[in-house]
Amino acid sequence: MSTLNIVILAAGKGTRMYSDRPKVLHGLAGRALLQHVLDTAAILMPEKTCVVYGHGGEIVPQAMAQYDTSFILQEPQLGTGHAVQQALPQLPDASLTLVLYGDVPLIQHTTLRQMLGAPDALTLLTVYLDNPTGYGRIVRDSAGNVSSIVEEKDATPEQCAIGEVNTGILAAPTSLLRGWLSKLRNDNNSQGEYYLTDIVAMAVAQGIAVHTVQPAHIWEVLGVNSKAQLAELERTWQHGEATRLLVHGVTLADPARLDVRGKLVCGRDIEIDVGCIFEGDVHLGNGVRVGAYSIIKNTIIAEGTNIAPYSHIDSSEVGANCHIGPYARLRPGTKLHDGVHIGNFVEVKNSEIASGSKANHLSYIGDSSVGNRVNIGAGTITCNYDGANKHRTIIEDDVFIGSNTQLVAPVKVGRGATIGAGSTITRNVPEGELTLSRTRQTTINGWKRPTKDKK
Ligand code: UD1
Ligand code: CA
Repeated sequence: MSTLNIVILAAGKGTRMYSDRPKVLHGLAGRALLQHVLDTAAILMPEKTCVVYGHGGEIVPQAMAQYDTSFILQEPQLGTGHAVQQALPQLPDASLTLVLYGDVPLIQHTTLRQMLGAPDALTLLTVYLDNPTGYGRIVRDSAGNVSSIVEEKDATPEQCAIGEVNTGILAAPTSLLRGWLSKLRNDNNSQGEYYLTDIVAMAVAQGIAVHTVQPAHIWEVLGVNSKAQLAELERTWQHGEATRLLVHGVTLADPARLDVRGKLVCGRDIEIDVGCIFEGDVHLGNGVRVGAYSIIKNTIIAEGTNIAPYSHIDSSEVGANCHIGPYARLRPGTKLHDGVHIGNFVEVKNSEIASGSKANHLSYIGDSSVGNRVNIGAGTITCNYDGANKHRTIIEDDVFIGSNTQLVAPVKVGRGATIGAGSTITRNVPEGELTLSRTRQTTINGWKRPTKDKK
């Protein structure tokens, strides 16, 4: 088999997005439209991938810097044929070139693979639409062979009635493509553009076979021209994610109210309530329950853990049988061992909390190492920042910290220590003892509240 080149057209303006951002950088399920296409392209293992960009200038290549791709500026944009022409100097002759679109994000590699089987032919991806308005129509001769593609603006009423349309995606032998594109004209159509679609009639005239392939689903070939179309494809994607999870046995309170913006891997007997968002790589162990409106990003949660509603978890590791939330916030660098309880309005950042420890109410635990079976009372705060630098707090096993304690880091609380409620701890606390820092409680007998002055 000959090698494969992929050219992705992404120079269009996207006028109907009403946005300063280039269209192909708008997000779908947490990835730019163009990333979806680049990721799919990569599955086909092409020799070379070229992105033809234009509007938005260097923002497009900058945003895609992680891809091994050539970026080719098309300026000005004189049509789809002109766009492909810009990439040709980069493409070796002994190869097949596949043309994709940066604003057609959901094309599947399985469909594309079917287009690569005839390396000497021109292969078009076409689709039958109930309403073909706006698309180029596939014109066939009496024998049913493709004879040309005619754009709607250039079509006769009879041609407009054709339901088979051009998706724009095609594959052609690179050497032939080079010859055809060099002969394109822009004075033969109503838009004054160099149409990529004109190569079809050229192939036919040359006796080159023109094949057509249909996608498995219509949504694969739908493009994004407006925010409404973007929202529609987002729902298509999310419906697919929800279906995949249901098939694997995940319980979803409402498959229509779930958003996966990355890769969600689930064990058995998982329950996800409504309105949850999963971003990046999230792994949920067996029996995990995720309460409503929780947002979980780049996190591993071990089996049996319960995430109560409205919890935010980012770049953390949560052990087995933990109770998190409601309204808990685990920030990057949090590592919770098994059986940890993190309750409402508790924020944990860059901290490790060992097994069985609890911080159930209104706390901030930052840059800390917390031992086993520690109880952190309501309102306890690690003062980890002195205005210039961050410092660590170390709390050893079996410590009990009374409510409303401030631990001014760097500070260490020794094993088994107890801290009286309301303490401000600025020095290390010895093991096993009761430590507190309070002024003694006094009562002033006979004291009266002030009264309002008479005018
Ligand atoms: C094109 C096809 C049409 C097909 C339709 C499918 C041509 C002449 N027509 O029409 O048969 O039914 O797509 O959506 O090809 N682009 C560039 N540079 C340019 C022009 C376009 O990169 O100079 C890119 C755009 O960003 C867009 C894509 O090519 O992603 C299609 O361009 P557009 O002008 O929208 O073509 P259509 O008129 O929709
Ligand atoms: Ca279009």
